[in-house]
Amino acid sequence: MHLTIPDKLSGREHTILLGRKESDFSGLLHNPDQRDYLKNRMEKEKEIILMNHLDRLLIVHILKDEPGDPAQRLENARKGAFNIHRLLAEHDIETVLIQNAGITAEEILSYVEGLALTNYQFLKYLKNADEKRHKLNAAGIVSESVGPEDIHHLNTLIKGVFYARDLVNEPLSYLSAKKLSEEFIRMGTEAGFQVEVFDKKRIESLKMGGLLAVNRGSVDPPTFSILTWKPENPVNTKPIVLVGKGVVYDTGGLSLKPTHDSMDYMKSDMAGAAAVSGVFYAVSANRLPVWIIGLIPATDNRPDGNAYVPGDVVTMYDGTTVEVLNTDAEGRMILADALSYARQYDPELVIELSTLTGAAQAAIDKYGIVAMGNAGREIMELLKLSGENTRERIAEFPFWEEYAEQLQSDIADLKNIGGKYAGAITAGKFLEHFTAYPYIHLDIAGPSYNKNPFNYRGKGASGIGVRLLFDFFYHRTH
Ligand code: BES
Ligand code: MN
Ligand code: ZN
Repeated sequence: MHLTIPDKLSGREHTILLGRKESDFSGLLHNPDQRDYLKNRMEKEKEIILMNHLDRLLIVHILKDEPGDPAQRLENARKGAFNIHRLLAEHDIETVLIQNAGITAEEILSYVEGLALTNYQFLKYLKNADEKRHKLNAAGIVSESVGPEDIHHLNTLIKGVFYARDLVNEPLSYLSAKKLSEEFIRMGTEAGFQVEVFDKKRIESLKMGGLLAVNRGSVDPPTFSILTWKPENPVNTKPIVLVGKGVVYDTGGLSLKPTHDSMDYMKSDMAGAAAVSGVFYAVSANRLPVWIIGLIPATDNRPDGNAYVPGDVVTMYDGTTVEVLNTDAEGRMILADALSYARQYDPELVIELSTLTGAAQAAIDKYGIVAMGNAGREIMELLKLSGENTRERIAEFPFWEEYAEQLQSDIADLKNIGGKYAGAITAGKFLEHFTAYPYIHLDIAGPSYNKNPFNYRGKGASGIGVRLLFDFFYHRTH
């Protein structure tokens, strides 16, 4: 769905007048009967008020207010758009005008964002895709406070989210590690960021032992992708590195997952990688003056004749030895190598995104991202603020040193699992071992994939992380 600013209006377009209870709609409704009807419906606290004229849809949409909580207002706008989407679909509407009747630019933009995100579908594998496709394909925004830059910004951000969702929705039968890296190249060419891909030989010569260990059970080679966006006048002198978990399928390996409700959606185990590439897409398409580097280790995790086994000791990229006690704790094995690799950039900050633990999902479900870090209060608070703005919310977990004690091994420097409790945190502590810079860990296991429809986030891949980090970088540069 494409967002535009129409240059002239015929008065015959399907139109949504968007306002709040206190808005004055009289200037937009010329007919006194309409105004009486609206008044009557508003007194009955109706939110969606139809004023249809046969073939032309005219809707007054009253957004829920939330005094004193601007972030909640934006979320109400997105959810309102989700509700209206069903109505537009019922009427086979292809193009709709959204007219501002007394709300802020942010609110109308959140509304069209919600509409666009709701309109997403993954139909690639359907024979009757054309029948199933939503008719809605464009929305025109009529608002004095919204300019062409805002529209470009939102269109590219939404595209970044959609590319991330597409990647997560793609099954392993299409999306091998190699294919994933090719998709990054395609996105980079379109938006303007650079991509370099290390193949298996290169990964072997670099001795990325964690990535190679997980890959041993696979018939497909691993990849290690490096994404770069370095604008001419970046606001940062040292790069910010984004690391994404790219497990294109997680069977658990020899510590095999049960199929039902456990393995069956594990094509989504590269949602961190997808989010990183989606952020690169939006940041570079908007030419944001922030220098960022993306690191994406990718492989599938499978049992096979040569698969790594519980009890193995693996020498990682930085020389640390790891006793593998569960091959299903594979994300941390490949991420550790990427985190050590990041040191050479002397980064200002590293933010890593991964579908890392069932424990994070069990703790807060699909409603938020579990975060930990040692980058200081200010960064974490800024991230949380972006989380509130975008409703890709962040729940901070403790990151106390005591949790690392559970990772002590008798025969190696570390083991790859902790004890029975606090699994999300011991996983974070494992990763922190490989860092030497300010670090934020975002566990997106809960919100990355929705087995059931979840408002504008949709069914299937949510694209979580893209809007969060774009907002974070946008505020860093504006
Ligand atoms: N990819 C999974 C985590 C996951 C679970 C993501 C549910 C999305 C939804 C990860 O590789 C994993 O298997 N983690 C194990 C770690 C354990 C073996 C220490 C887990 O959480 O059970
Ligand atoms: Mn696993
Ligand atoms: Zn995994």
